[in-house]
Amino acid sequence: MYRISELTEKVGLSRSTLLYYEKLGLLQGVRQTNGYRLYSDKDIQQLHLLQQLQAGGLTLKECKSFLDSKVQRSVLEKRLQQLDEDIAKKQQARALLAALLGEGSLRLWHQQTDKLAPDAHLDWLKQQGFNEQQALHLKWLSKDMNEHDQYMADFMTVFQGLDRWGPSSDADTLKALSTLPTIPTKIIDIGCGKGFSTRLLAKHTQAEIVAVDNEQSALDELGERLTEQLDARVTLSCASMTDLPFSPESFDCIWSEAAAYIMGVEQALTQWRKLLTDSGFMVISDLVWLTDNPSQEAVAFWEGEYPDMQTVEKRLDQMCQAGFDVIDHFTLSEQAWHDYYQPLKARVAEAKASMPSSNAIADIEREIAIYEGYLGEFGYQMFVLRKGA
Ligand SMILES: C[S@@+](CC[C@H](N)C(=O)[O-])C[C@H]1O[C@@H](n2cnc3c(N)ncnc32)[C@H](O)[C@@H]1O
Repeated sequence: MYRISELTEKVGLSRSTLLYYEKLGLLQGVRQTNGYRLYSDKDIQQLHLLQQLQAGGLTLKECKSFLDSKVQRSVLEKRLQQLDEDIAKKQQARALLAALLGEGSLRLWHQQTDKLAPDAHLDWLKQQGFNEQQALHLKWLSKDMNEHDQYMADFMTVFQGLDRWGPSSDADTLKALSTLPTIPTKIIDIGCGKGFSTRLLAKHTQAEIVAVDNEQSALDELGERLTEQLDARVTLSCASMTDLPFSPESFDCIWSEAAAYIMGVEQALTQWRKLLTDSGFMVISDLVWLTDNPSQEAVAFWEGEYPDMQTVEKRLDQMCQAGFDVIDHFTLSEQAWHDYYQPLKARVAEAKASMPSSNAIADIEREIAIYEGYLGEFGYQMFVLRKGA
């Protein structure tokens, strides 16, 4: 038998805690004639059990019910669920520390953190010394600080040889242009890449066009392809879509194909809206779910690659919330996918010979397989909007 002072040592609980437990009926010492309480090994076992139940999230009241065999199954189920969630969080935290110590891949952590706290994730990357372009590349492409440079070198080897950097087609761009009630006169093409849309817009309107991208090499190619006639109306601007160097109401049309996702569609809608004149147009394309029941493999893939992917209805709702009227929207043709993925597939086949174990190549191949297997469950949607009052 043990006195309370011995019990405190054996179970690591304070005297006042033990007395409190005793008051709640969780512990029953045997009071001696001299006033001291004595406790048995069974009491110690009961306290160990109690500590474990508490670690499992049970309140003292629930512990008491458990010890009295009166606890409800639903209470235990709820606690178990909470415990599983806590463990998952701890495992995520552990994965980060291990990855930062070089003991594992940072990939999963980057993906999870981006889903949980995208802005904080980006800020954190910048604090690690990456500039915004690198941080965005890390977020969207390499997802691994340790492998980043090699990944991007491989990625650019494939993409520099490509014209289109996202699904799009001339027919779809012109279709969107034809739905505008009036022909714009000042257009900004954001995330223009090598400028397929820029050149089409220049050819089919008389507008002054500013083509913006943060990749100078893409703008250089666009510059080389501009004919003298178009050159006069197109200005190239190497800038970030997150911090566009233009005064409010500078444009009557914002165009952005396969690029708004980079800063987040909702953020793009609100930030870019300011650049529009009253009743100005915004035309953006975005990857969306086209079915309520997509295949598991497609869901798993896009959860990693585009966690903010939405249904068309959800995006339309966000667009209305952001102060736009919807003029039209349509799903990009299969041609748009074909025009992007066929050359990409050919480039990958070419490049793979010289870099067979590249992570970038493996990722691109995975994306191509998802496109080939599941296109139709998802697709690009072109949204034609007008700035509301
Ligand atoms: C998927 S590509 C689409 C390019 C082009 N609109 C097309 O359809 O071919 C996205 C483009 O956004 C550009 N980009 C990425 N981050 C950017 C940023 N922060 N500011 C401006 N452009 C950016 C990339 O360089 C790339 O050209």
